[in-house]
Amino acid sequence: MELKNIKLEKEDRLAIITISRPASLNALNSETLNELGAVLDDVQDDDSIRCVLLTGDGDKAFVAGADIKEMSDLSPIQTRTFMKKGQQVLLKLEDLDKPVIAVINGFALGGGLELALSCDILLASERAKLGLPEVTLGIHPGFGGTQRLPRLVGKARAKELIFTGKMIGPTEAMNMGLLNAVYPPVELMTRAKELAASISKNAPLAIRLAKGAVNRGTEVDLITGLAIEAEAEALAFSTQDAKEGMNAFIEKRKPDFKGL
Ligand code: CAA
Repeated sequence: MELKNIKLEKEDRLAIITISRPASLNALNSETLNELGAVLDDVQDDDSIRCVLLTGDGDKAFVAGADIKEMSDLSPIQTRTFMKKGQQVLLKLEDLDKPVIAVINGFALGGGLELALSCDILLASERAKLGLPEVTLGIHPGFGGTQRLPRLVGKARAKELIFTGKMIGPTEAMNMGLLNAVYPPVELMTRAKELAASISKNAPLAIRLAKGAVNRGTEVDLITGLAIEAEAEALAFSTQDAKEGMNAFIEKRKPDFKGL
């Protein structure tokens, strides 16, 4: 697929996905969602990639939301199609077999915050502004914001953000458990790459299985979650990398994980 609104770079074991519609502050229109879906398929199938960074082009916005200009004329049925498209692409992102770090370099609003909420780890610049301003437009979050935000920060904090539509800065977002870390703008990408490198040196299949266990386990009761964890761990023990990792420990050397 020809990419007009997304850049995909691969360096070493890292994929960097950049949403790039700077004239619209990287707002998500249908075309961009389709491209993001295709790029995620590419990254999923590329065994050389161990970690993914997702960011926005320029120094102003991560993603300023779903594209209001495209949405403003939609019929109810078209709206349903658009929201389902957004939800499906974000589910694909959340379910990717590799860890995804949101690198929030500016505004993360509406669908932009919902995009970040589908990532595994959220890093932000000191200049980031986060919020779900949909109710100020007469609508409400439709790419999973009413579901993922309360799961992350609790119902009361999520409702405050959704009902007021207010933007918050990174310190407040950190304090409510919405972000993993905040960095000065010039440091953000370097720190994100360092974090990615510290993940990529570990066993990729173990990380994939652990990610699945966290994602699926937090949606069910503890007993079912522990069963999911035990099954995943049994699979992790069956990998060559598990033998390599434990042998390397016993032999007092660094492991060389191959993703097998
Ligand atoms: N959709 C379409 N275009 C957008 C956009 C969006 N979400 N956000 C910004 N833009 C466009 C602006 O229309 C403007 O284009 P023009 O130059 O053609 O007018 C350009 O990007 C630059 O934006 P501003 O001039 O507004 O920049 P600013 O610095 O004055 O303000 C901002 C920045 C506060 C982020 C402001 O642009 C803004 O409020 N954007 C909308 C944020 C929003 O409401 N997002 C939620 C969208 S709804 C949604 O996401 C639904 C869902 O859950 C799926």
